[in-house]
Amino acid sequence: MTTRELGRTGVRISPIGLGSAQFSGGGSGTFFPALAQSQVDAIVKAAVDGGITWFDSAEGYGKGRSERSLSAALAHAGTQPGNVTVSTKWTPLVRTARSIERTIGDRIANLAPYPVDLHQIHVPYGSLSSIRAQARAMAHLVEAGKIRSVGVSNFSARQMETAHQELAEHGVPLAANQIQINLLHRKIETNGVLETARRLGITLIAYVPLRSGMLTGKLHADRTLVARLPRQRRLLTGISTKSLDRTTPLIEELRTIAAAHRATVGQVALAWLITYYGDTVVATPGASKPHHAEEAAGAMKIALSDEETRRLADLSTQVTR
Ligand SMILES: NC(=O)c1ccc[n+]([C@@H]2O[C@H](COP(=O)([O-])OP(=O)(O)OC[C@H]3O[C@@H](n4cnc5c(N)ncnc54)[C@H](OP(=O)(O)O)[C@@H]3O)[C@@H](O)[C@H]2O)c1
Repeated sequence: MTTRELGRTGVRISPIGLGSAQFSGGGSGTFFPALAQSQVDAIVKAAVDGGITWFDSAEGYGKGRSERSLSAALAHAGTQPGNVTVSTKWTPLVRTARSIERTIGDRIANLAPYPVDLHQIHVPYGSLSSIRAQARAMAHLVEAGKIRSVGVSNFSARQMETAHQELAEHGVPLAANQIQINLLHRKIETNGVLETARRLGITLIAYVPLRSGMLTGKLHADRTLVARLPRQRRLLTGISTKSLDRTTPLIEELRTIAAAHRATVGQVALAWLITYYGDTVVATPGASKPHHAEEAAGAMKIALSDEETRRLADLSTQVTR
């Protein structure tokens, strides 16, 4: 599958990237247990070898731990700066927009030698400054050559418009909005986010594209795995015995289509995301094992037919009704 432009920035990325919340170092309040750096190295190498060219992190993932772990793993894989796209995020909580400029040095140091190609405002709430002031601070970082492009995350259609307008006054495009999109969560189609992104040329980065593992079918196949997931992860992603029952018809259809393509259930779920919405949506799945990253990369090679794509969309509507 060919690369896609990130918003209207000229930066080109693979339709599937790799998320790195899994590299946060564990600890209380995190969704994922700590991974050894050797495991992170193997995951990132599998992604690079499979053709994934962009990697997404955040200040909030273990207070920069994920950023450091990611850059170390990219270096371990022999990846040259400039050959991959790296994105990260600023945490707005109880901070003014000035902290964007105060903390960029940490982002750059943690990710070095890989430049910050995309810097995102992690959430639209919690900051002591307006969205306009935050967008302005981001634009200053572009003007200063510290970051290449600007994105937001979890922004509504209206909030996207506001950030877009403020950035436009500085001649900077709003590159992306990173938001939850998957076969069990398609709110962008009705809340104006998809329409706004298309109209303004903003890429939507789908996070939790596998619904935290539910869309791989593994929890449906072995329900004992559910109890082993951290409570917070189950609650926030709606993973329960009841939701597994409700979504079984969709997983069965994914299995049928996966068999026809010699693929896995999760690969078809990812392929659907980057097909159904055209070029507007790219996906950033997370991986805690090398084969997760390998499968994610392989999803870019699956060509779903119109009929398969539509069948999955119909079933997804039925099971989430
Ligand atoms: N901007 C935001 O506010 C925001 C919010 C959430 C996430 N994100 C980003 O989006 C990324 C993706 O979200 P996510 O990782 O939470 O959810 P996800 O991609 O839907 O699910 C990832 C999890 O699914 C399982 N998995 C992945 N590939 C698999 C495979 N081939 N076979 C079996 N299981 C597989 C693994 O679970 P196990 O580890 O349990 O095996 C993995 O940790 C994150 O890493 C993060 O970078 C952003």
